[in-house]
Amino acid sequence: MIVCVCNRLNETSCRDAARSGQCRDVACMYRVQGCRPRCGRCVPIMRDILSDATVARLEGLAGFRNVLVHEYAAVDLRRVHAGLDRLDDFDAFIADVDTWLARRPQRRG
Ligand code: FES
Repeated sequence: MIVCVCNRLNETSCRDAARSGQCRDVACMYRVQGCRPRCGRCVPIMRDILSDATVARLEGLAGFRNVLVHEYAAVDLRRVHAGLDRLDDFDAFIADVDTWLARRPQRRG
């Protein structure tokens, strides 16, 4: 399926870009594929693809949490150290939350 008509980007290449872990924002999704947004119609889809990839990466962290909480005496410090290399996942999650907050209707109070 074509995601971006202007740049001829298909869904597979966009999901690959998101899964690469290089992108925290939508602009990067275009940059790593050698282009930039033009008309902008695809930006919401691109944002959803990036968010799906973040969710998948964070799901993997749940297992790490279980190691820490349920097998505390058997914590492998090498795995903990390896997990610290994944702090970008939290940055991606924060970017998703920022996007979600920006899309919410403003409350009047
Ligand atoms: S459809 Fe992607 S920039 Fe126009």
